[in-house]
Amino acid sequence: MSEHKPTKDKLKPWRVRLGIVLAVAVVLAATVLLALRYAVIPEVKAAIDDARLDRFALATTNDSSSLGFNVSIALAVRNTNRAMSVKYTEPVVANFVFHDRRLGTAAVAGEGHEHPPRRREVHLLRLGGEVPSGVIGDAAAEEFKKQNASGAFDVELRFDVEISLGIGNTRGMSFSCPLRLQLAPPGPTVVVFRRVYCMHEEQEKNYF
Ligand SMILES: *[C@@H]1O[C@H](CO)[C@@H](O)[C@H](O)[C@H]1NC(C)=O
Ligand SMILES: *[C@@H]1O[C@H](CO)[C@@H](O)[C@H](O)[C@H]1NC(C)=O
Ligand SMILES: *[C@@H]1O[C@H](CO)[C@@H](O)[C@H](O)[C@H]1NC(C)=O
Repeated sequence: MSEHKPTKDKLKPWRVRLGIVLAVAVVLAATVLLALRYAVIPEVKAAIDDARLDRFALATTNDSSSLGFNVSIALAVRNTNRAMSVKYTEPVVANFVFHDRRLGTAAVAGEGHEHPPRRREVHLLRLGGEVPSGVIGDAAAEEFKKQNASGAFDVELRFDVEISLGIGNTRGMSFSCPLRLQLAPPGPTVVVFRRVYCMHEEQEKNYF
């Protein structure tokens, strides 16, 4: 035993040291990858810079009725990352919602769109149409009459984004931007609007 020991002892420290170095390198590499994968979370923030409600009216023709609307919305989306672009892995579509009913949609950004770091992109959305009251439902029609009498409408812009960053961190975010809008006077009169920040939830939510 004692004769073998010296050779073993000479070899052992070298192997042990190499082993430790390798283990540390592996742990470091894994930590860096994990940090990139999970600590660098893709994130965008959203706000409504401006909104103008040109028409919001319940029209009754014969025995059918419909809700007609026209609205312009300036939606700002900001990539909060200071160094890296985020990529939209799904098309972004905004829903214009009243009383949990979707009245219309507008395209915000296409699939594959690269959003540069720190950039704040403003999307001008114009939505309009006639939604049959059968689609809106009685509850929403009642709510319309109530809000119409008060002079301001509680509407909402909702959208989901799926973004990726770095080595493929993908994240789904749902945004809700509540808006309280009065009908704008006809003509080009400027309506003062206070910026509204959109709230976000982690997972997509179904609402109709
Ligand atoms: C409403 O009724 C009038 C006559 O009764 C008819 O000419 C018109 O087409 C109807 N409108 C709709 C939207 O059904
Ligand atoms: C309102 O929306 C409808 C349907 O999208 C559109 O045809 C119409 O031109 C719009 N009107 C205004 C004033 O923007
Ligand atoms: C909404 O309000 C306007 C003005 O206050 C009024 O002229 C209109 O009849 C109302 N519409 C409904 C469906 O209540």
